[in-house]
Amino acid sequence: MTRFNLEDRFLHGGDYNPDQWLDYPEILQKDLELMDKAQANTFSLGIFAWSTLEPEEGVFHFEWLDKIMDDIYAHGGNVILATPSGARPSWMSKKYPEVLRTNASREKNLHGGRHNHCFSSPVYREKIAIINKKLVERYGNHPALLMWHISNEYSGDCHCDYCQENFRHWLKKKYQTLEELNEAWWGPFWSHTITDWTEIESPSPLGETMVHGLNLDWNRFVTDQTIDFFEHEIKDIRRLTPTIPVTTNFMADTYDLIPFQSLDYGKFSKHVDVVSWDCYPAWHNDWESVADLASKVGFINDQYRSFKQQPFLIMESTPSGVNWHDVNKTKRPGMHLLSSMQFIAHGSDSNLYFQWRKSRGSSEKFHGAVVDHDNDEQNRVFKDVVQVGQALEKIKEIKGSYKRAKVAIIYDSDNNWALGDAQGFSNASKQYSQTLQKHYRYFWNQDIAVEVITKEQDLANYELVIAPMMYLISEATMKKWQDYVANGGHLVSTYITGYVNEHDLTYINGWPRPLQELFGIKVTETDSLYPKDQNSLHFENHEYVVQDYCSLFEVIDSEVLATYGADFYQGQAAVTKNKVGKGTAYFIGARTEAAFLEMFYGELTRQYGLENQWVVQGDSDVSVQARDFEEKSYYFVMNFSQEKKEIQVSEESQDLLTNETVLPTISLAPYEVKVLSPIRLK
Ligand code: GLA
Ligand code: ZN
Repeated sequence: MTRFNLEDRFLHGGDYNPDQWLDYPEILQKDLELMDKAQANTFSLGIFAWSTLEPEEGVFHFEWLDKIMDDIYAHGGNVILATPSGARPSWMSKKYPEVLRTNASREKNLHGGRHNHCFSSPVYREKIAIINKKLVERYGNHPALLMWHISNEYSGDCHCDYCQENFRHWLKKKYQTLEELNEAWWGPFWSHTITDWTEIESPSPLGETMVHGLNLDWNRFVTDQTIDFFEHEIKDIRRLTPTIPVTTNFMADTYDLIPFQSLDYGKFSKHVDVVSWDCYPAWHNDWESVADLASKVGFINDQYRSFKQQPFLIMESTPSGVNWHDVNKTKRPGMHLLSSMQFIAHGSDSNLYFQWRKSRGSSEKFHGAVVDHDNDEQNRVFKDVVQVGQALEKIKEIKGSYKRAKVAIIYDSDNNWALGDAQGFSNASKQYSQTLQKHYRYFWNQDIAVEVITKEQDLANYELVIAPMMYLISEATMKKWQDYVANGGHLVSTYITGYVNEHDLTYINGWPRPLQELFGIKVTETDSLYPKDQNSLHFENHEYVVQDYCSLFEVIDSEVLATYGADFYQGQAAVTKNKVGKGTAYFIGARTEAAFLEMFYGELTRQYGLENQWVVQGDSDVSVQARDFEEKSYYFVMNFSQEKKEIQVSEESQDLLTNETVLPTISLAPYEVKVLSPIRLK
């Protein structure tokens, strides 16, 4: 049992950078006092501390960190200790320029910024191994050490000679022969046949961008190379502290709150013990409703819970605004508690912040933090944080619970990359991730728990699996879908599914046979519409608007649920249902307005008994999410609107945040959250 599993409280605290304040002992003292007041119990240390830890090559200073770790422990706190590879000291860049990243145009970076080292550089690997070993030797048995925070937000790629060499190596291992590689990369196209391994170069605006197999392999290589670097970082950590869990902080795609685009986190998550991520929604923005955004936040949280099918951690979030949105708006009263509880509701075991104390200089001096420049515990944001600290304490009996879900949505990184690269359809409106989030929205509105899984994950436990726009699909995945449906599963797929295989080569001889058998149709064409074009779906006397994509198909033996309303394919099948074995496969041929998805999934929800049994009458701005134990569920009831709301549930409960008894008719103030423990009448 690791210390982390034994921890019986939610983690609350965040990134703490005392190395920026070593010349201000009174500030460090004040921090300890404020940490107690904020009910903060966990701090991530040393994330960017390399220049303080090793100010000169081979000269190490740990005394300051010893003191902070001891102090935090004395105050009853935990430390998530970072390895410092996210940014390096300037002496290193100067003496060993190979540690600096080279971009796709083959330009080498100057020293500066962060998250810009070469993942292959032998010197960088040697230097990080030395300091990581020192950290684990010194702090491996420290009683405050809860977890390892490896590097910070790994991302990006490097195109230096070392990386080219590693890429060629990776390709040789994968393809064995150049014949195989040229087949997969469709070599003769534009005379791009490779005749010697050394001719291979990573994609570059100065060179190759049009070979889709190369682009896809490069993306896969970058994930593998990042994981390889991570594995290198943790060698001694694993050896010397086998019971201390290891994580690295994942991201979402910044503003949009769609899945992170450049790494395959599904793959990466197999290498960490706990998934953690950094979440920065632009709450109260002027382009979407708070509920719209909340549902996207829910989606990403569900993805991170689903990777390992266990609770995850919010490693960073902000108690107010950030510094890198176009407009850095602060959270409205109530929103901090609400958004923090939303993390827990979706399976997080923490709410940690970036950062504990606002920086005094440089680009993050106005980024929201728990402690502002005023150092004042009466500060509104500080008080919001205290409230969350207290709330986490009040709900701590929920720690240790999971979340049950019968619905899964498949997000696939390979597909995302290949579809993004595809020149065809309508380049601007592919929107794979956004489409998944639109399908998810129905379930979020209906308070039905969803897992967001990879194509490799087991499907057997789900009643319903939704896999829109699987442009890239291997025969193995088709087989898996067939088995799932034959054994009683219900599967939904859509337009732009089934075009290319795992090498990004199209299927020949028509739409793949296993998909024909599964859906009982044969897709023959996909029509891409201009943004102002529309078609419609005719379904049970209703017309639904259709935009962007309409697939045309022959019906083999499927039941036609809806037909097209216009154009040369008016009257032809648009949505179908096919019974196969014990299950059903649905195909939605066109991109529809939300109302269609609501109606369609509403039907499936009733048929397959997916309803949230606890909610009698919900509201689409009020999200209800459960955390489940075997015997008991707790319900988070969250009002993501500025209006008062009322919902009906099936039983009386107790609000753990206020201790009040809550009737089955629940009234919520704007942005209010309740965490309810049902009172079961005997
Ligand atoms: C990222 C980083 C942090 C900090 C925040 C600011 O998540 O990991 O160091 O820069 O962004 O939002
Ligand atoms: Zn490199």
